[in-house]
Amino acid sequence: MFKLPFELQFVGNEKAKKELGDVDNLTVEKVDKLAEEFLEDVKQDLIESKGWPVNMSSYIVSKAALNAYTRILAKKYPKIATNAVSPGFTKTDINQNTGTNTIEEAAEGPVKLALIADTGISGLYFELTEESTFE
Ligand SMILES: NC(=O)c1ccc[n+]([C@@H]2O[C@H](COP(=O)([O-])OP(=O)(O)OC[C@H]3O[C@@H](n4cnc5c(N)ncnc54)[C@H](OP(=O)(O)O)[C@@H]3O)[C@@H](O)[C@H]2O)c1
Repeated sequence: MFKLPFELQFVGNEKAKKELGDVDNLTVEKVDKLAEEFLEDVKQDLIESKGWPVNMSSYIVSKAALNAYTRILAKKYPKIATNAVSPGFTKTDINQNTGTNTIEEAAEGPVKLALIADTGISGLYFELTEESTFE
């Protein structure tokens, strides 16, 4: 299956990789600080030398931060199902309609996750309707 490269494995910055991957010690403050460091590195033209992704860097870093935030929320609010879901490579404006999935296919995962209740499914990452990994 085609996977968009926003998973953590595409973030080469060692500090970001370590902190965002350390789910037990993740905090909102840490995620915010990493995002600020990334922005500063963008301003100083240090993306490559600091190990941030060179292509689609803002997109990838924002998704890595979003995934981290998903895990923080899931831990903080155990009674609420908080998950991340990718719609897959879908025909929309974001890719000038070059995606391979239809919008209907892409909507299945988010709708399914929005409708789950009391299943204990939380803090997870889904590709379409299938559980995948954050990494
Ligand atoms: N399509 C794919 O292949 C694909 C794959 C993986 C993940 N995703 C993710 O799925 C989500 C939806 O993407 P999509 O494919 O539906 O993209 P899209 O067709 O380009 O739609 C993006 C939507 O986000 C809104 N938006 C953009 N910037 C915004 C901002 N600063 N504040 C508020 N709204 C803003 C846009 O509003 P306007 O229309 O008003 O500009 C638009 O409604 C995104 O998070 C994307 O990263 C998409």
